[in-house]
Amino acid sequence: MADPIEDSTDQGAPSARAATAGLTESGGQEVDLGRRRFFRQFAGDIIQTAATMAGAAQALQRASAEAAGALLDPDTGGALAGLQAEFAGEPAPRGFRTPFREDGDVLYLIDQRRLPDALVEYDCRSAGEVAYAIREMIVRGAPAIGQVAAIGLAMTAAKFIDSRPYARRATLLGAANALRVSRPTAVNLGWAVDRLMARYMALGDLSEDGPAIATAMRAEADAIVFEATTDHGRLATFGYEALPPPTDMPLRILTHCNAGPLACGQFGTALGVVQVAHNAQRPIHVWVDETRPYLQGARLTAWELAQAGVPHTLIPDVAAGYLMSRGEVDVILVGADRVVANGDTANKVGTYPLAVLAARHGVPFYVCAPTSSVDLATPDGAGIPIEERKAEEVLSFRGVRIAPPDTQVRNPSFDVTPAELITGIVTEEGVLCGPFEQGLADAVASANARRAAAISPFTTQVAD
Ligand code: MRU
Repeated sequence: MADPIEDSTDQGAPSARAATAGLTESGGQEVDLGRRRFFRQFAGDIIQTAATMAGAAQALQRASAEAAGALLDPDTGGALAGLQAEFAGEPAPRGFRTPFREDGDVLYLIDQRRLPDALVEYDCRSAGEVAYAIREMIVRGAPAIGQVAAIGLAMTAAKFIDSRPYARRATLLGAANALRVSRPTAVNLGWAVDRLMARYMALGDLSEDGPAIATAMRAEADAIVFEATTDHGRLATFGYEALPPPTDMPLRILTHCNAGPLACGQFGTALGVVQVAHNAQRPIHVWVDETRPYLQGARLTAWELAQAGVPHTLIPDVAAGYLMSRGEVDVILVGADRVVANGDTANKVGTYPLAVLAARHGVPFYVCAPTSSVDLATPDGAGIPIEERKAEEVLSFRGVRIAPPDTQVRNPSFDVTPAELITGIVTEEGVLCGPFEQGLADAVASANARRAAAISPFTTQVAD
């Protein structure tokens, strides 16, 4: 698909194609084998592409292995085994997978609109195409859209490596803006775009040195993906340690929307904690809110948990209160699109009522959010822009109309949970308890300091 920013003539329809030959969308054995073959190839590509891109496969593997190793006692071996198996060419154990991979100058996204029925990739070659994919929720989830936005901008910078400075500037500013406005609530999007544009501006927006600009923006994009891997792994460790103590029953975790690898990259946030508990062989059972109207819970979370073999049960969102009233929920873990300075948190619509119910029934309610999802510039929840999406998402599902035509619809995609209803905010710097102001400011500061101190294989690349 031509990039509407780089070529304003084309508003054309997107194209998607089946990722690997032999993959049919109509189910049956072939799909499973094809799917396994695809995922093994896919996971291998992720690691291999990272290696060739920055020549730092070991660094990425080390970072992921460290994160995985920190999550697991040596006896269990789960996620680390998966990574080692990938490198050893053995069939990978079943498990969670990442939502995107790069191959040459193409970014491949799992088309999450088509899950769980079809596993197809959507390919992007520029920031404009990535902005479209974000707006149409081909890729979704705050951390994931931040990472692909960064990669998209780096790709556009590479495409304009030989352009005149004015043309490059106009394109990059246009691309950055298209990404920023593609979805307003997830702060990761603007955070990632700001980081890449800062690298560009540091070199001079009218600099003639296209190669230096492209290299710097690529390095920043790779650093953002690299950090997400380690940060989410750390976050999941802290979250695991904060879970209620074991009893003779499986721990009953309720989650809303999808905050797994499909939404985050290598590791999930709320589902990252589940990944750790599962790999530590702690008995757990996950209540999965279907998450109307877009059904991220029913379509994506249930699919990820099934892939990983984690016991789970799908529930209508409106059943959560009933289960809590019967004492069948031990803890609630949700992700976040934006945590503001006082701790008020925006997440998928339906999260706020869950927090109210949890307070009523004394169920611990944890927000799992990396500091890349923290917005210290916004003092409280009233300042969070809430995306309102198209009525069609409510009026019909997969083309089947479920309400009379012309029915009036409000479709806020997110809501805000007040800080006072949140038991703790799980970050990669530890678990914060209310009041959150100081804890959030400290967590952001220590995360930035840790990143600055860490010798990222990507930023050193530029220095040479
Ligand atoms: O509309 P979506 O699917 O992008 O909404 C996603 C969520 O609300 C997630 O819970 C949030 O982005 C956190 S993902 C770690």
